[in-house]
Amino acid sequence: MTAPLVLGFETSCDETGIGLVRRQTLLSDALATSSPAHERFGGVVPEIASRAHLEAMVPTVHRALSDAGVTLRDVDAIAVTAGPGLTGALLVGVAAAKAYALALDVPLYGVNHLAAHVAVDELEHGRLAEPSIAMLVSGGHSSLLLVPDLAQDVQELGRTIDDAAGEAFDKVARVLGLPFPGGPHVDRAATEGDPRSIAFPRGLTGPRDAVYDFSFSGLKTAVARWVEARERAGEPVPVADVSAAFQEAVVDVLTAKAVRACRDHGLDHLVIGGGVAANSRLRALAQERCDAAGIVLRVPSRRLCTDNGAMVAALGSRLVEAGVAPSAVDLGADSSLPIEVVSR
Ligand code: KG4
Ligand code: ZN
Repeated sequence: MTAPLVLGFETSCDETGIGLVRRQTLLSDALATSSPAHERFGGVVPEIASRAHLEAMVPTVHRALSDAGVTLRDVDAIAVTAGPGLTGALLVGVAAAKAYALALDVPLYGVNHLAAHVAVDELEHGRLAEPSIAMLVSGGHSSLLLVPDLAQDVQELGRTIDDAAGEAFDKVARVLGLPFPGGPHVDRAATEGDPRSIAFPRGLTGPRDAVYDFSFSGLKTAVARWVEARERAGEPVPVADVSAAFQEAVVDVLTAKAVRACRDHGLDHLVIGGGVAANSRLRALAQERCDAAGIVLRVPSRRLCTDNGAMVAALGSRLVEAGVAPSAVDLGADSSLPIEVVSR
């Protein structure tokens, strides 16, 4: 008997992602984005995102099916992001997933977007060693996790106490006059800059600070002050150098704390997920530090780091395999779903 075919729905932010996964094999990953519609606002506008999900939903489902060469009749289970994320945006995905599940008479799994960012790595690198340490760095979250069982036991060791890593990238990009979302633009600008040109602060790295928590708000403010001082003095802002120095401060702290978490827990597997995991310097420094510490590093390819439907299908597939109970028909969206709740 072939393994169940899982259709995944992702609508937590501005990407409408529909993915198809069988066991840990990625069959298709269709994406529609409303990102350009938000650009002039400098951030995602929830109402615009919800409407765009509604319009993109059915065509994106069809595209995922045709890319995989299957039909709706072949689908054995449905997974959908139930949170965290923008309520209105999540609701479009949950309503659509429920409708398909009811019409096809297949089980529905409401899953955690954050755990899905970790699960997607299994599509490229096979089953995760358990327990592993996972670092989740996205536009809305930054957390260090202990993962004894990705299907049902995810524990948070620490998190950001203010801005998420991606949020810091986006805000700094704005200060530098780079487009939204800023992460990829800062990443690109930084390749031409000198990371040692400016000494920006490393948040929560003092001897008395919480070892697994992050803070990026002080860094963001330090960058803004530095840029303002330049502008006041009528001097040009060295965008490449500021980008490189800021980026180095973020990834230095992230990788140091992730390696520390592995060491403290006696674990030699680290997986990094979420949009910021697409950052080239984060990937390089994490690799360097993991190699030095004898840790096996796993990071999904860039395309799968940012929001997509395959990650939801990947986690759904994991839940089906583990025999986790499906969600009830009254499944709702939870904009602040805690990271420990893998499915609901
Ligand atoms: O995971 P994601 O697609 O959406 C959320 O769940 O938040 O993450 C989006 C975040 C944005 O803040 C974006 O600027 C950041 O990921 N990002 C990056 C890069 N690519 C995306 N940050 C740094 N470097 C990148 N290359
Ligand atoms: Zn995400």
